[in-house]
Amino acid sequence: MSKVFDIIEKEQNRQNKTIELIASENFVSEDVRRALASCLTNKYSEGYPTDRYSGHKGRYYGGCQFVDELEEYCCDLWRKVFDTDYHVNVQPHSGSSANLAAYMAVLKPGDTILSMRLSDGGHLTHGSPVNIVGKIFHVVNYDLTADGFIDYADIERKIRDCKPALVLAGASAYSRIIDFAAIRASIEKVCAELGDEAYRPYFMVDMAHIAGLVAGQAHPSPFGIADIVTTTTHKTLRGARGGLIFCRKELAGKIDSGVFPCCQGGALQHAVAGKAVTAEEACTPEYREYIRRVVRNSKAMCDEFIRLGYRIVTGGTDNHLFVIDLSETHPHLTGKRVQDTLDKHDITVNKNCVPFDKRSPVETSGIRIGTAAMTTKGYKEADFEAVARRIDAIIRTMN
Ligand SMILES: Cc1ncc(COP(=O)(O)O)c(C=O)c1O
Repeated sequence: MSKVFDIIEKEQNRQNKTIELIASENFVSEDVRRALASCLTNKYSEGYPTDRYSGHKGRYYGGCQFVDELEEYCCDLWRKVFDTDYHVNVQPHSGSSANLAAYMAVLKPGDTILSMRLSDGGHLTHGSPVNIVGKIFHVVNYDLTADGFIDYADIERKIRDCKPALVLAGASAYSRIIDFAAIRASIEKVCAELGDEAYRPYFMVDMAHIAGLVAGQAHPSPFGIADIVTTTTHKTLRGARGGLIFCRKELAGKIDSGVFPCCQGGALQHAVAGKAVTAEEACTPEYREYIRRVVRNSKAMCDEFIRLGYRIVTGGTDNHLFVIDLSETHPHLTGKRVQDTLDKHDITVNKNCVPFDKRSPVETSGIRIGTAAMTTKGYKEADFEAVARRIDAIIRTMN
């Protein structure tokens, strides 16, 4: 037997025994795994099935009749999950690929993107200088308030001053509701001041982290507000690893070209199948109940940390995650040391920068905690509170 299966077994054991608190991870169903491991991995399918919205029709390979059916079915399901008539492209290999393809679809190199900075909770693909997005585009970041909340007034100011070609909302480590409608209102206000013809930015939402909450109606939806919505399918959506791009119908052709042929080659139809099963599951009442429990558990665990004397960025959480800021309460500890120590106790978290962090992204002054994965494993509020106390006991032994 291949050595690979030994390694997979070791990883399976690790996943069985650890308490998984990485906010971007989850455990998929057996059906998702079956789809991912199916014969669809053998099939090439560059291009698109006959599409209702975009000008792109047809594949560059024969034998696509069944993957055409699959991809159309997958698109229909995702529109149903988010109750939207937006066009959807289900081919992005990942969240990063989805974001790059979306930018390439509607922007020119050198255009300005207004986004949240990485150290404040944004993602690499929101324009970090080390990412290709930061190398191709000019990036301006909006600020947070002193308490760590998105500063909506700063967004409006920077739209007016910098005239970005694209305004991006969304984050990897932000524990509060994002007010998409407020950002749209600022865009409209500035456009009206300048005269509509003179300036009109795209509004894009990267809902990778909160997509499951949007589907479960535990977070306001960006549909009908944003021009483009990107997401991953493997975080709170609890599905196959991959990305999706939604857009207003008039952008369908641009978005589809942005994915293929601009940024990707053949679609991964086994991944499309996994995403379709994910969408089927996300349409069920059980899934909506799961999301409600994720959010309840996150609040319970966060409150327990506050009770134990920890400082939480923004003082709490509205979603599936929160960030503990150790800089004042535990100035001698880095996020990296806490992550490494918890690893030894079979508790998995990730180090995370906190707003205005004086430490580098390698060391950090915080850790990010999420409840989506362990809620899938059946943890309830009392279990998460007990884990918070266990983490506190471990941190107390560190000097
Ligand atoms: C907000 C956000 N966008 C995009 C991504 C990128 O997703 P992927 O790792 O699938 O490329 C992430 C991943 O953590 C994310 O948090």
